[in-house]
Amino acid sequence: MFSLFDPPSDAADRVLELRRQILHHDRLYYVEAQPEISDREYDLLLDELIRLEREHPDLVTPDSPSMRVGGAPIGSFETVTHAVPMLSLANTYSREEVEDFDRRVRQGLEGAVPRYVCELKYDGVAMSLTYENGLLVQAATRGDGQTGDNVTANVKTIRAVPLGLDHPTIRSATIRGEVFMLTETFLEINRLAESKGEKTFANPRNLTAGTLKQKDPKAVAKRRLEFVAYWMETQDVALEAHSSNLRLLHGMGLPTSPATAICETVDEILAFLAEWDERRFDLPFQIDGVVIKVDSLRQQSELGSVARSPRWAIAYKYEAKKAQTILEDITLQVGRTGVVTPVAELRPTLLAGSTISRATLHNEDYVHELDLRIGDTVVIEKGGDVIPKVSAAITELRPADAQMWHMPPTCPCPRHSHIHRPEGNAQWFCNDAQCPWQLRRTLEHFASRDAMDIDGLGEKAIEQFIDAGLLTSIADIYRLDQRTQDILALDRWAPKSLQKLLDGINASKQQPFERVLFALGIRFVGEGVAKILARNFRSIDALLSATQEQLTAVNEIGDAIAESVIAYMTEHDNRELIASLRSAGLQMESHENVVTSSEFAGKTFVFTGELTRMTRREAEESVEQRGGKASGSVSKKTSYVVAGQAAGSKLEKARSLGVAVISEDEFLAMITNPSSS
Ligand code: IVH
Repeated sequence: MFSLFDPPSDAADRVLELRRQILHHDRLYYVEAQPEISDREYDLLLDELIRLEREHPDLVTPDSPSMRVGGAPIGSFETVTHAVPMLSLANTYSREEVEDFDRRVRQGLEGAVPRYVCELKYDGVAMSLTYENGLLVQAATRGDGQTGDNVTANVKTIRAVPLGLDHPTIRSATIRGEVFMLTETFLEINRLAESKGEKTFANPRNLTAGTLKQKDPKAVAKRRLEFVAYWMETQDVALEAHSSNLRLLHGMGLPTSPATAICETVDEILAFLAEWDERRFDLPFQIDGVVIKVDSLRQQSELGSVARSPRWAIAYKYEAKKAQTILEDITLQVGRTGVVTPVAELRPTLLAGSTISRATLHNEDYVHELDLRIGDTVVIEKGGDVIPKVSAAITELRPADAQMWHMPPTCPCPRHSHIHRPEGNAQWFCNDAQCPWQLRRTLEHFASRDAMDIDGLGEKAIEQFIDAGLLTSIADIYRLDQRTQDILALDRWAPKSLQKLLDGINASKQQPFERVLFALGIRFVGEGVAKILARNFRSIDALLSATQEQLTAVNEIGDAIAESVIAYMTEHDNRELIASLRSAGLQMESHENVVTSSEFAGKTFVFTGELTRMTRREAEESVEQRGGKASGSVSKKTSYVVAGQAAGSKLEKARSLGVAVISEDEFLAMITNPSSS
């Protein structure tokens, strides 16, 4: 697997071939949206390229895809001046304003007939890319339009931004577009942050902006930012129209919007606006409107610009989808951790294609900040993929008998236990361990699709079984087979549905350990964290006795998660539950990645710095497969510290403790040639 001894010409050929293939796949993925290989296969190509370039530094070029892993941290962003100012667009919101725009354009062109290009207005961060001699030399934010921040190191990590232009004559160009993030990526990053108790972001645009301001390009590389180009300027070829520029950009290897239309009339423009107002919720990214541009570049320059906006283009902004309805009541909802949240009970109304009758009000303060009263006419809205929210009360329409609302002092469940709001906390909590509503949520979560996926145990069945006293804890689920007569006595239950339920319960016993961990509903232990815990601790027994230090030694586990896991595992009732689930036959050990040898038994490895031939995860797995332990912190007990590139404090600590330090190559040699360990 090492090509150290390959003749350099072979390496040079292979490097060229790898770059060709990577570029080809980048293009298929980002420009054509038709990938042909899996991410894993792509990563293998990139890994091989990085390895060869490390062995043959003379073969490195500035446009090599290996440059995308991110360079050294940046101290501060330098300010750069835009050669052509970055303009912004005037906003419009109505048919009339679009008609006004068309009229102004026609007047400005003194009778000449314009043609328009309509395209999506991506909701991200504007970026100006400068290419010289075919290479990306600068990426700058818009800033105030005249000067912006030089964020080149960060933007180079974005795979959709070509490091070199693919064109025979265009060598220098300014290309502008939007850096954005897919909604799914945003949700995933936020979910992870939330499960770690870290700051979450309001929307993909804020997260994109925050990411571009990061000082560490390696962190940016992990955030999977995207790019779409919508403007260019070059002296190297004659440019005629915006529409042909878009084709040119596409041909040069830049992603362009898949949705553009040439429109000759206002009606055609309005049809495009209406179409995307509906379809925007199906897009995998967020848009906040449509941009309408005069196509001809000659006409664009005739029209010129006023203040900071061009006269040849406008933005048509979509409003967040809004509707008005009556707030009929405010009720309370109890989460499985005991958080008690107010919920708006609304007169059912249609909003962006679905009927809304309830919406969360988040917390007590939210209700008072909006000054909501029961009986009020309220505005509900939905933006992008977001869950509907109550955004305002229309006080002019407030009826005389509208009722003020106060947080009730008790839990809404039949036990009416007292609830409390800790100092400095926005939420109220119900601490009653017997609260049937918490139990309902706990069981719903346990049986849900992503957790134990128990067929036949849906919300309705859970409610019925709790009311009938058949379910008082998770453990009771696995005793339902002894309560068949009681179940059959309930409404809607027949031998067939009962059998389906029992089969579902039985099948859930085969769900892997990581799912069991997630299903337990431990605070901060979402699906991702459950996987990490299962992979690192491998059994419930290991977790039952895990210490804070052992937990936080795992890279992704911070103090909050560790504390929560320990609090859960030390609680008497939870230990009993685990024992009961174990005897019911649930999976309490991880079978994934079984140890294949014991070469590394008793040895602990710590990986630090950047590994170039494998990911840290792969390296850690290869240790675990050999019976060793991978840890996140160095101590006297550490057997080896594997130092990748730019290793820092852990390396120093290893040296000060006299722990053996080896290189990534030495580690690779160890796992390919066991005798050397
Ligand atoms: S054209 C002079 N096209 O919207 C024209 N802008 O205020 C420059 N945007 O700063 C912009 N999608 O960040 C253009 N297809 C698109 C766009 C777009 C998003 C952003 C861009 C710009 C802002 C306009």
